[in-house]
Amino acid sequence: MRHEHVITAKGLSRADIETVLDRAAELEAADSRAVELHRGKILALLFFEPSTRTRLSFDAAIKRLGGDAIDMGAVDESSVTKGETLADTVRVIEGYADAIVLRHPSQGAAKMASEFVDVPLLNAGDGAGHHPTQTLLDLYTMRKHVGLDGISVGIMGDLKYGRTVHSLATALTKFDTVQHFISPESLALPANVRYDLHEAGSTVREHRDIEDVLPELDLLYVTRIQRERFPDEREYRDVAGEYGIDAAALERAKEHCKIMHPLPRVDEIDPSVDETNHAVYFEQAHNGIPVRMALLDLLL
Ligand code: CP
Repeated sequence: MRHEHVITAKGLSRADIETVLDRAAELEAADSRAVELHRGKILALLFFEPSTRTRLSFDAAIKRLGGDAIDMGAVDESSVTKGETLADTVRVIEGYADAIVLRHPSQGAAKMASEFVDVPLLNAGDGAGHHPTQTLLDLYTMRKHVGLDGISVGIMGDLKYGRTVHSLATALTKFDTVQHFISPESLALPANVRYDLHEAGSTVREHRDIEDVLPELDLLYVTRIQRERFPDEREYRDVAGEYGIDAAALERAKEHCKIMHPLPRVDEIDPSVDETNHAVYFEQAHNGIPVRMALLDLLL
């Protein structure tokens, strides 16, 4: 993976994914002993949209590897406000850093930006497009709890605008999984993701009601309705609060069924789930550290 960009999950082979997950497991076991691996290396954080987990876990990951991060900070305090293009911004920043992490509201922004730089560029979310590094930590969490082959996975919520869903569904085609998609009709998977799943030989099984499929699942991946992506607030209000899970509903789930969520959550996972054996979403967020350390280690 040396010097490659990480733009979509489609660009990662099963072998690439397993390499990252295996390295993450080694680094997690090594804990702070990894600290000298990348002393002096600089990671640039360019976030044109809000983030808590992705920004802070990349920051912590490079520091745990002995490197450091430079952060462009708030967009309205950068030269973007003077009209600088994204292409010019990344061309300048590649001279300051050994790798770039980019989050941007426009779908395709990471791909476009990657064409202007030679240092590795990691897509930390491009609008309603993809979020491949989230997918790697999702797979790491799944592998720990239920494995990645021979499982039934439900993906519920905003399948249309949810970039974590697009990347995860694509990555899961590289494993022996059955995928069930649960959403209102208006938030079903977009055509391009359906096409990728079809091309990979996966069958798209769609449901309007989680009750129809919950007892079959080994894992349920819940997502937030992406309010910020709706062109019309009324459309958001029509579907807001429609899909959720609580501890009572989970009584119909397999005992080992795990509930994941990329976070942040709003109301789609009731806090009553937090204390059950099903909940792994906080651990999932914490897995961002070893997985992003592994990715940086391999790329740098
Ligand atoms: N899961 C995720 O991408 O979270 P942030 O938006 O907080 O980075």
